[in-house]
Amino acid sequence: MTIKEWLEKAKLRIDALDAELIALKCVAPLADRSWLVAHDDESVGTAEPLEEMLERRLKGEPLAYIFGEKEFYGRKFWTQPGVLIPRPETEALIELIKELKLPQKARFLEIGTGSGCVAITLALEFPQSYVLATDISETALDTAERNDVMHEGRVELLMSDLLDEVNLEFEGEQYDVVVANLPYVNPDWEWLDREGLKFEPREALFVKEKNGLMLYFRLFEQIFERMKDNLYWTRYVVVEADPCQQRELKKIARRFGFEHIKTLDYGMLFERVDLK
Ligand SMILES: C[S@@+](CC[C@H](N)C(=O)[O-])C[C@H]1O[C@@H](n2cnc3c(N)ncnc32)[C@H](O)[C@@H]1O
Repeated sequence: MTIKEWLEKAKLRIDALDAELIALKCVAPLADRSWLVAHDDESVGTAEPLEEMLERRLKGEPLAYIFGEKEFYGRKFWTQPGVLIPRPETEALIELIKELKLPQKARFLEIGTGSGCVAITLALEFPQSYVLATDISETALDTAERNDVMHEGRVELLMSDLLDEVNLEFEGEQYDVVVANLPYVNPDWEWLDREGLKFEPREALFVKEKNGLMLYFRLFEQIFERMKDNLYWTRYVVVEADPCQQRELKKIARRFGFEHIKTLDYGMLFERVDLK
């Protein structure tokens, strides 16, 4: 069967772009989509892997799990079920951090690292920085470790419920930026595309309490506690939240001594009030 013939059939069953990406992945994984147009009279070879991927996509499984990878900030990250797929909107966190005036040897702490995409990107964009990344999930930490090894291996990983283990293991240390994309989706939101999210781990996405903001509330509270002992514990906090939560999040941050500085799409930057 030629690529053209396979694509014609596949596009009747799944999204046209997804069909092309599957064909490309199986037939010419290093090429881009223009290659398909120029070579669509070539044989797909054995159609089995293409059909298997098509069937998985038909059931709604995201391409990132089917392919085992996803791009984030221009780099590839390994993905597997059990760990959140890196999202383009999370790149705003990197953009917000890159706009800050930070010391050359900046120190970053990421809470809830998942695949490690944010922490590893920071390590690569700030080559002299120190990056500590935490997660409560072992699968996430394993995935982050594998990605870290693939990308220079500069991130330190730690299992922790929010900041619980951070001070014990790294006592006396302080950070320039604490960054977090914690679960913030309230499962009760009516507009939620539940089908699209059903393959990803619930515990990486959903929080019901405080309209999804419970983990951020606890994180700001813990940071506030740390700063009672060490005013310089962190200067900036950068987090991701849904636009419908951002007003409430500003209030939470304010309550714990942080002022809202800037919003970029889903990303929000806060600065410690008494360090401004
Ligand atoms: C929305 S995902 C974000 C993953 C990754 N940072 C990204 O942006 O793609 C949230 C991550 O926070 C982790 N997490 C959930 N509750 C946590 C907690 N109490 N402490 C630390 N990490 C937590 C989840 O395991 C998950 O990996």
